[in-house]
Amino acid sequence: MKNLKITTVIKTYPSDELSKTDQELVTAAKEATKSSYAPYSRFSVGVAALLKNGVVVTGSNQENAAYPSGICAERTTLFYANSQYPDQPVDTLVIAARTEKDFIESPIPPCGACRQVMLETEARYKHPIRILLYGKKEIYEIDRASDLLPISFDGAAMEV
Ligand code: THU
Repeated sequence: MKNLKITTVIKTYPSDELSKTDQELVTAAKEATKSSYAPYSRFSVGVAALLKNGVVVTGSNQENAAYPSGICAERTTLFYANSQYPDQPVDTLVIAARTEKDFIESPIPPCGACRQVMLETEARYKHPIRILLYGKKEIYEIDRASDLLPISFDGAAMEV
């Protein structure tokens, strides 16, 4: 028996240590929570995606009375970006979330399904997606989506 050790590097920042561009993206992600439709969870998630051409696309979670029919903010944003700008890789993805009271203290962890979609977007464009997870206390920076989903399933697994 051997152990397979997987390492993920996460950089943590106080929000005032971010670059100006990143601070603007955090503001855009926080702003995007305002368009969230979350009458069931009352948890509003906003995402800002900076594309390679400099365009910033934002999106939010959209819930449904038939719960599984809703969709997270990350997938709303990535699918919209890929639909509107199919030739543009996503450079940076910033995620923010709030309850009815306030933005959450710790960095928002994206769900597994969204990590899977981030991974496919990264692979599709052969371009790493840098991810910023916003929390009031601190912000996490992850260099590429694949770091958030080790031993992941992708199309290559279906090739012989
Ligand atoms: N949600 C997101 O939009 N992104 C995440 O990273 C975590 C969860 C949404 C889904 C649902 O509308 C609400 O937050 C509660 O799970």
